[in-house]
Amino acid sequence: MTPADRDSTPTAETFGDLYEAQATRLPEAMDAFWMPFSANRQFRKAPRMLASARDMHYQTTDGREILDGTGGLWCCNAGHSRPRIVQAVQRQIATMDFAPTFQMGHPLPFVLAERLAAIAPEPLKHVFFTNSGSESVDTALKMALAYHRARGEGQRTRLIGREKGYHGVGFGGISVGGMVNNRKFYGPLLPGVDHLRHTLDIARNPYSRGLPAQGAELADDLERLVQLHDASTIAAVIVEPISGSAGVVLPPMGYLDRLRRICDKHGILLIFDEVITGFGRVGKAFAAQRFGVTPDLMTTAKGLTNGSVPMGAVFVSDKVHEAFMQGPEGMIDLFHGYTYSGHPLACAAALGALDTYEEEGLFEKAIELGDYWELGMHSLRGLPNVIDIRNFGLIGAVELAPREGAVGARGFEAFTRSFHDHDLLIRTTGDVIALSPPLILQRVHIDQIVERLGATIRATA
Ligand SMILES: Cc1ncc(COP(=O)(O)O)c(C=O)c1O
Repeated sequence: MTPADRDSTPTAETFGDLYEAQATRLPEAMDAFWMPFSANRQFRKAPRMLASARDMHYQTTDGREILDGTGGLWCCNAGHSRPRIVQAVQRQIATMDFAPTFQMGHPLPFVLAERLAAIAPEPLKHVFFTNSGSESVDTALKMALAYHRARGEGQRTRLIGREKGYHGVGFGGISVGGMVNNRKFYGPLLPGVDHLRHTLDIARNPYSRGLPAQGAELADDLERLVQLHDASTIAAVIVEPISGSAGVVLPPMGYLDRLRRICDKHGILLIFDEVITGFGRVGKAFAAQRFGVTPDLMTTAKGLTNGSVPMGAVFVSDKVHEAFMQGPEGMIDLFHGYTYSGHPLACAAALGALDTYEEEGLFEKAIELGDYWELGMHSLRGLPNVIDIRNFGLIGAVELAPREGAVGARGFEAFTRSFHDHDLLIRTTGDVIALSPPLILQRVHIDQIVERLGATIRATA
């Protein structure tokens, strides 16, 4: 690189110009990007475009300010473009852009793993880095299988997921997942997978405030699967402590405890998928701590870097980790990894995020604001078509009655109206509106979310 090249490296200022120059190309460019989980042709006719973001708000390309009710996509727990993260990433890209972590190292992932282990529940003290929630899930499933094999129980190959579960889009994740549209196009999925019943029961737990009171016995469904398959064939059970993607499904009181006890009884590993519940969403660093139930493996992503650079992490218990450390020292202990595991920029971003979470006490916010949030959410009861409201920590869900013969149409209309007419970003799945705002929000933002959502729901009647 010549000094002249160095000088032409874009700075924060010139990058803005670069963006503007690119933006003029947008009309022609619309065709090239195949958007994920999107109705591409419909989107192109009425695009929803974001240009910049700070703290609680996005700014659109047409200059509107949008209140972020979803933390981007359950990612930006500390709000947007936070200075510590920005600075950490800027410094790191100028210092070392990439370094391999296969039989090589650089200090950042070690330091980061130690910081993460310090906030994780005992005994989840070992961290394996990935680049996404999907990769974290597939990594954890592979670890579970290899763990049993390392202990001489290689016949434990069965994986158990749950109906309505979302574990990303890898083949492992969609196999244990329980959302039909994510599965039906891609068979055959992994063999030897079974599913527990889901825990959503609006009839028994309508408008539950916090965890639903009824349904702990649904954990006994695992006993049914043990009767069917025999415990000696089952490697692991994976569940989200709270599932977001299927429309905010909460664990009934005592359910997770019971699931843990049944797993222990049968030597089955328990995996918590904390991709959305991790990093303060429910008032502790992880839902495992809030619920007082510790899994053997825990998958994370999203809030790990505050959504700023792609990164995931699997937290591994001492017991599981130890099983891999028994062979000769010169032997590779896990034949698995990603080119970008422990990427320097992602590590820097995660360290900046952890600093921000700590300095601003953000892991406690969901408890501090929990009651006010709950009151706000439940004040929407009685609005047209609202059939249930659920909340826990700083998560909220408003379920709308589907339109006759058009499941999801009302939900999607609420999503677009909220964005275009009420300057509020929400997330909908089917006819459920799900909320997961940045944890930096204040009461005034909760008031705004409730007011704008109320207006949206009324307009969608
Ligand atoms: C519980 C859970 N697991 C896994 C994933 C997949 O994460 P990613 O989209 O980063 O692959 C998600 C994404 O929303 C999730 O909610």
